[in-house]
Amino acid sequence: MLVVGIVGSPRKNGLTNKLVTEALAGAQSIGAKVRTIYLIDYDIRPWTLENPKAPEELNEIMREADGYIIGAPVYYLDINGLTKDFLDTVDLGDSNGKPGFGITIAGGTGKGLVLAIKSIYYFFFCKSIRALEPLPVSRFNFNKALKRANELGRKLAEEARKRRPFKSLEERIRYFSNIKYMNMDMVDEILLLAEQLLESSPKQEYKEEAITYYKRAKELISRGERDKAITYAVKAYELLYY
Ligand SMILES: Cc1cc2nc3c(=O)[nH]c(=O)nc-3n(C[C@H](O)[C@H](O)[C@H](O)COP(=O)(O)O)c2cc1C
Repeated sequence: MLVVGIVGSPRKNGLTNKLVTEALAGAQSIGAKVRTIYLIDYDIRPWTLENPKAPEELNEIMREADGYIIGAPVYYLDINGLTKDFLDTVDLGDSNGKPGFGITIAGGTGKGLVLAIKSIYYFFFCKSIRALEPLPVSRFNFNKALKRANELGRKLAEEARKRRPFKSLEERIRYFSNIKYMNMDMVDEILLLAEQLLESSPKQEYKEEAITYYKRAKELISRGERDKAITYAVKAYELLYY
């Protein structure tokens, strides 16, 4: 059983690599064969009519794999172009029911950690990959995320033993619309970041005030007043940001 981990960052020693490496360590710990792919090592170009496919060596590895981990850095609230070009051109063959999960790392302000996940999961949806829960990561939840990457890597290796193809589009849409984070927008994301900051920010003197704003935002959202909630969600985030 082979699990492939994609590092979509051009920085081979960056945060994406750390997370993907930890996820693969989890898969390996329960007996999977693992392989890391650094996209920057391959000649990956944008999809064109003349050049619609990723390098064949890369396609072959991907077709052989029983499970996928795709890790991408967040650039402007989305996955970076290198990862997207790879997704646009890779030829997976029949991937129906193979398991996979995505990791996004928004290493600056944290914004985009959740929004970017969708680009990887839309690809999984189109390729009928049975996606596990995603792992959206910022500087603020990084250490916790490393642990989670390992757990998800193990889970992926377990799932890879029994491939479960989707039988219909209906089943696939239902499956993907129930995946955590898929229905989150910018407001939910800034609240999630505020939550992460409540746990990890060194600016503890502002914590109580931030909790008040955070709770107010949550309450407004539960009442359907999303527009008003933005004010308080942003206040909580900005107070604790470091
Ligand atoms: C062009 C560009 C845009 C970026 N946009 C964002 C962003 O929207 N949100 C964020 O939190 N970080 C952003 N960053 C920071 C990267 O997410 C951060 O450097 C991350 O650690 C990159 O992953 P790596 O360490 O694996 O290279 C951006 C970086 C670049 C180069």
